[in-house]
Amino acid sequence: MFNRNDLHRHKKTYQHQLANQLVTAVIVLDAGLKIQYLNPAAEALLIKSFNKLFNLPLIEVIPHSTLDPARLMQVIESGQEFSDSDVSVQLGDHFKFTAEVTASATEFSHQPHVLLELKRVDQQKQISAEAFQQQQWESARDLIRGLAHEIKNPLGGLRGAAQLLTKELNSEQQEYTAMIIEQADRLRNLVDRLLGPNQLPKMEVQNIHLVLEKVSQLVAFDNEKNIRIVRDYDPSIPDIAFDADKLQQAILNIVNNAVQVIEPGSSITLKTRVASNQTINGKRVRLTIVISIIDYGPGIPEDIQDTIFYPMVSGRSNGTGLGLAISQTLVNQHKGKLSCSSRPGRTEFTLLLPISEENTL
Ligand SMILES: Nc1ncnc2c1ncn2[C@@H]1O[C@H](COP(=O)(O)OP(=O)(O)O)[C@@H](O)[C@H]1O
Ligand SMILES: [Mg+2]
Repeated sequence: MFNRNDLHRHKKTYQHQLANQLVTAVIVLDAGLKIQYLNPAAEALLIKSFNKLFNLPLIEVIPHSTLDPARLMQVIESGQEFSDSDVSVQLGDHFKFTAEVTASATEFSHQPHVLLELKRVDQQKQISAEAFQQQQWESARDLIRGLAHEIKNPLGGLRGAAQLLTKELNSEQQEYTAMIIEQADRLRNLVDRLLGPNQLPKMEVQNIHLVLEKVSQLVAFDNEKNIRIVRDYDPSIPDIAFDADKLQQAILNIVNNAVQVIEPGSSITLKTRVASNQTINGKRVRLTIVISIIDYGPGIPEDIQDTIFYPMVSGRSNGTGLGLAISQTLVNQHKGKLSCSSRPGRTEFTLLLPISEENTL
């Protein structure tokens, strides 16, 4: 059996260990809002060690945040805790994060202190926004597929009937049935494209640069605008399994959109890299190939930026809005992710492809 002292020591051991392992950053401030304690998660979040930060005023350590020191003082004075689920903190020039913060009053050595708990939420936010986008996109695609099927079936009957009718008509009247058949074929073509790629990909282990070289060739082949393709490849990228035709189509659709809007004589950059710890549809992937297609044109019109991957969304008067929807489907077939960021002067499409044991063997 434990006696009281053993139990006390036992508890202390656990408490110490727990504070060290918490994912939540814990910061203890004294009544002057000076840092008295940081757990390792807090050291990691602030990118500095406890030794460097001990006894420094919090306001000096994070001068740019939406956390109000006056409210922390209130916690000490009133003993009431407060929480804020959307505190943004700027550390240095390039690092910014959003955190959920709880501040509560506590006492150490009979002195009032504030206990701050910070949990980063921006990564989580990004993951759920992505999952939401993916869902939206899938339901839009299902809707359009359903509709396309509904059109396709009667269309077959319509065309067949017109063909039969042709035989009964004189040559002048046959012009009308020919017109019906021609227009039915046009609709069928559209519907087939709406239904999207229907063959399963033929996966082969190969090098991704082959695809990019093929795309460059195709652009050079029909190059009225004299567009220059700039290659920025990472030659160390390992071979992975993919369907070369499908990825070529996916990338060509993206490149063609850029070609359509950029100035004659300008350039498009094809860049490849390996990146670690990316998220694809809400899942963390340890290693990925990153293919970026960058142009320096006018950018995607703001009103369609959130929906460009949906079928039928186009910023061009004669566009079908199918190119990027098809690219998205093809990339999804490879368990990859296609995203885009655009502003006037720079548009970047990013294609992530997982490198896994499963697709490199
Ligand atoms: N690199 C780009 N720069 C500017 N706008 C773009 C770019 N890529 C795509 N877009 C916009 O996205 C729209 C959708 O593209 P897409 O799905 O290929 O359909 P479509 O080319 O038939 O319009 C384009 O009409 C265009 O407005
Ligand atoms: Mg297009």
